Amino acid sequence: MKILVLNGPNLNLLGTREPGIYGSLSLADMMKGLQDHGRANGVAVEWCQSNEEGELVTRIGKSQGVYDGLILNPAAYTHTSVAIRDALQAVAVPCVEVHLSNIQAREAFRHTSLTAAACIGQIAGFGARSYLLALDALLGYLKTSTGKG
Ligand code: DQA
Repeated sequence: MKILVLNGPNLNLLGTREPGIYGSLSLADMMKGLQDHGRANGVAVEWCQSNEEGELVTRIGKSQGVYDGLILNPAAYTHTSVAIRDALQAVAVPCVEVHLSNIQAREAFRHTSLTAAACIGQIAGFGARSYLLALDALLGYLKTSTGKG
């Protein structure tokens, strides 16, 4: 099984970016932990990061037939991107949306996700652990096709 993790704008700055909100781990550290977790579960985890909306759209569009599932932290594009939502809806690849911070407990403009409705679910607020929980949720979904048991 092969999973692609997509990380949106400014997540390349994790480690030094607002550590009080996002923690002190770098994105590479988080992705290494996720890949280790994947390996322990027999799953290959690939990841990428882009500050460009179009790059994320293109990668989602090319994911069908290549990846069994997606984990997506759209970062600021969560709140603005119809293009990423449309890309998710265009491919039959299940996606879990992830946020490090609890977006519901932050500024009002972060309470709306345009992308979550095109995902099978959303996990937010658990820092780096959000990605691990997302992988577990996605694998559960892929094994049972509903993830509910
Ligand atoms: C974020 C939350 C977004 O609102 C913000 O724009 C980010 C990171 C998170 O992981 O908590 O860049 O997606």
